[in-house]
Amino acid sequence: MTKSAPKVNYLKDYQTPAFTVDSVFLEFLLQPEATQVTNRMQIGRLRAGDLWLDGESLDLLSVHLDGEDVTSQCRVEETGLSLSTDKEQFELEIVTRINPEKNTALEGLYRTSGNYCTQCEAEGFRKITYFFDRPDVLSVFTTKVVADKSQNRYLLANGNLTESGDLPNGQHYAVWQDPFKKPCYLFALVAGNLEKISDTFRTQDGRDVALEIYVEPRNIDKCEHAMESLKRSMAWDESRFGLIYDLDIYMIVAVDDFNMGAMENKGLNVFNSKFVLAKPESATDVDYEGIEAVIGHEYFHNWTGNRVTCRDWFQLTLKEGLTVFRDQEFTADMLSPAVKRIEDVKRLRSNQFPEDAGPMSHPIQPQSYIEMNNFYTMTVYEKGAEVVRLYHTLLGEGGFRKGMDLYFERHDGQAVTVQDFRNAMADANGVDLQQMHNWYVQSGTPVLKIESEYDAQMQTLTVNCEQSLPETEDFKPLLIPIGFGMLNSEGHSLQLQPIESHLQTVELRSETNAVLKMTKAQQQFVFNGVQTQPILSLLRGFSAPVKLSYDYSDQELALLASADEDSFVRWEAMQTLLLRTVQAKVAALKSVEEYAVPQLLVDTAEKLLLDHSLDPALVAMSLTLPELGYIGEQYREVDVDAIHQAHNWLKNGLAQALQDEWRNTYLRMQDDSEYRYDKRQIAERMLKNVALAYLGCLAQHQERVFEQYRAQHNMTDVLAAMKIMLHQGHSQTDQALQDFYQRWRGDNLVIDKWFAMQAETQNETALEKAQSLLSHPDFSLTNPNRVRSLLGVFARLNLVGFHRADGAGYQMVAEQIIKVDELNPQIAARLLGPFTHWKRYDAERQKLMRAALQRILDRDNVSKDVYEIASKSLA
Ligand code: PHE
Ligand code: ZN
Repeated sequence: MTKSAPKVNYLKDYQTPAFTVDSVFLEFLLQPEATQVTNRMQIGRLRAGDLWLDGESLDLLSVHLDGEDVTSQCRVEETGLSLSTDKEQFELEIVTRINPEKNTALEGLYRTSGNYCTQCEAEGFRKITYFFDRPDVLSVFTTKVVADKSQNRYLLANGNLTESGDLPNGQHYAVWQDPFKKPCYLFALVAGNLEKISDTFRTQDGRDVALEIYVEPRNIDKCEHAMESLKRSMAWDESRFGLIYDLDIYMIVAVDDFNMGAMENKGLNVFNSKFVLAKPESATDVDYEGIEAVIGHEYFHNWTGNRVTCRDWFQLTLKEGLTVFRDQEFTADMLSPAVKRIEDVKRLRSNQFPEDAGPMSHPIQPQSYIEMNNFYTMTVYEKGAEVVRLYHTLLGEGGFRKGMDLYFERHDGQAVTVQDFRNAMADANGVDLQQMHNWYVQSGTPVLKIESEYDAQMQTLTVNCEQSLPETEDFKPLLIPIGFGMLNSEGHSLQLQPIESHLQTVELRSETNAVLKMTKAQQQFVFNGVQTQPILSLLRGFSAPVKLSYDYSDQELALLASADEDSFVRWEAMQTLLLRTVQAKVAALKSVEEYAVPQLLVDTAEKLLLDHSLDPALVAMSLTLPELGYIGEQYREVDVDAIHQAHNWLKNGLAQALQDEWRNTYLRMQDDSEYRYDKRQIAERMLKNVALAYLGCLAQHQERVFEQYRAQHNMTDVLAAMKIMLHQGHSQTDQALQDFYQRWRGDNLVIDKWFAMQAETQNETALEKAQSLLSHPDFSLTNPNRVRSLLGVFARLNLVGFHRADGAGYQMVAEQIIKVDELNPQIAARLLGPFTHWKRYDAERQKLMRAALQRILDRDNVSKDVYEIASKSLA
């Protein structure tokens, strides 16, 4: 905790380590309030100079250098310890004491539901013992855990179990050895009275790997989906990337108190229970998909992150962008590539684009940070994954695979940089990818402006492209692949014939599908033999993370929405029509003009609903209105109330105009068979619940919504019904809320949903509701999931409540952030997000939001995490 400006770390200051730790032996004597850690390191010198070890909040008991007590010669500071020695090779043994019970920041060794657990990434190992807490120091770890046996049935750490047994006084111990060198951020220890489910996976090369998932006993019936997901992940990484698991055992532990989603510690992943536990009655399709994706993500880290790790934290996207790309591809292969792509684009646009346009904007490779935990961002992860996808698009699946193979061949066991990754991709394919560098060092969302010219005489079509990066002086052009196609007015794809001189820059993927490779700030692509004025299909597959600007007519969009061969473009076209309608209504609300839902929109929507050959999931996503946040993004100044009003107006309008189609669709998508997590069922539930949401706008269909709730078929349907009731203020809402609570009290993940759905509901009493939930006995400021469910959801999604004109929403959230900051700075910093976008609101709200930020900042004990974000937002 600091007051005056904390230290800034810069990429340009990177220095190679001065020492190696070849091996380290750790012994933990676990006690809830006084755990003793013995750390014996075999150290080698690489450069002259004193020894510096990182350490924070540690009680130092003793230091021995090659057996000699040097405790009194150590200089202990707030952030570490230094010692003078000129030895080349030595053993250093350090004994410290820590207090897991008091650790509410959930970094280092802490307690959750009475069990012990660790979280070390990014810089949490220094809260366990003094060490070189940096990812480019790699060591072989041996961990001995000693604890009371009755309280700690299982004692787990990384690697393979080599020894275990009983000790006097009801204690027992276990020794774990991890043969692979790793940085300390991948260290993990878990102990407690857990239960496990076990399985095995036979690898491609014929080894049996033991798979174990550990949970609190009450959750033992909710692990099956996670186990299946793990086995699918292992098989997928073998077949898609030839990557095989390397230890004899793979363990996953689910805990209720966790700052993030999950952590890829070598051989011992620790998960937020949200991404492990599921059964149909209590988890939604979205939860099931999230579990499969995160299990995959952490598993894939074993190669992209652990076997090849990051040189320093500025390289975070090296492991995260790549691993997110891999988990996206995994989910696409398990479910539907088209659906997954659209989900990811939505996420990127509603969360990463605003980040990139706000005060925390940073390139996927940041140049500096105050608190590394603040840089686990949508930019580093999701935009990072988009940049990896660019390599994939440019090189194709085969070329990408060659690059990956070379990357592992060169760098297995090393801590490397994003340049090393790029070089592997380039060298394996014999191409020059230098220009890709510009994606790593420039922030902001590029704007791609496209204009087209059709010459009927010459039968040519010219596509003029121009790229820019708002607010970046002397911007360097990016390599942008543009997925491209042309349609005639009947919606048939046209054959693409680039002119001779453009054969290098236009890559044909099929007769009707191309990738335009844009490398310059301005660039032209010309096609021959175009017999009629075509309709352009642009940025197919969302081929680059840019904002596309092209002047489509509504008619063109309507045609693309129903006819393009690319499902992303179809979805996008329909969304643009919906967005335009909301925007027109927002404008109309501010004048006295009348504005009605355009017939073209209704007709296009109807066409989608009646075309039973389409994937129901794509229809559902196309006909879901854009989120309020995304609509707000389109404006320089966001008028929350007008947008909210226009949004409801369009929803009601479409409900009315297509009531028969909604009803028929709802009935057609009904399915009483047993819940399964599969592509078809998920898609049908999705469309059914979109139809129900429209029907829920109409008084005569209210009962249907409550009926779906009462049927309790599965959580997907139950939650969908509840949200509709809440949103529409149906008369049975309170009854359902109470019933839901009674059914599920004690099941933390479901009660999180109960908080979240109420926090999200936008109406005049939204703030009062959120305030009353703060004093609900089940609310807790120490549990990150609960805090996110109420405060995170309210501030991020309840625009009406949070942005109340009198500032009471800001005040409420600010007060809570201050309380959270004293307990858990990481979570407090993340809650600040919505405040950072103050520039997007009117003058009065700006003032109120800034005042709230100032109040959060002006405290003696403000954390580094909160300091960095609040001060950068106010600057
Ligand atoms: N490395 C984790 C992941 O992506 C995320 C994480 C970061 C978890 C920091 C905890 C702390 O998969
Ligand atoms: Zn990750």
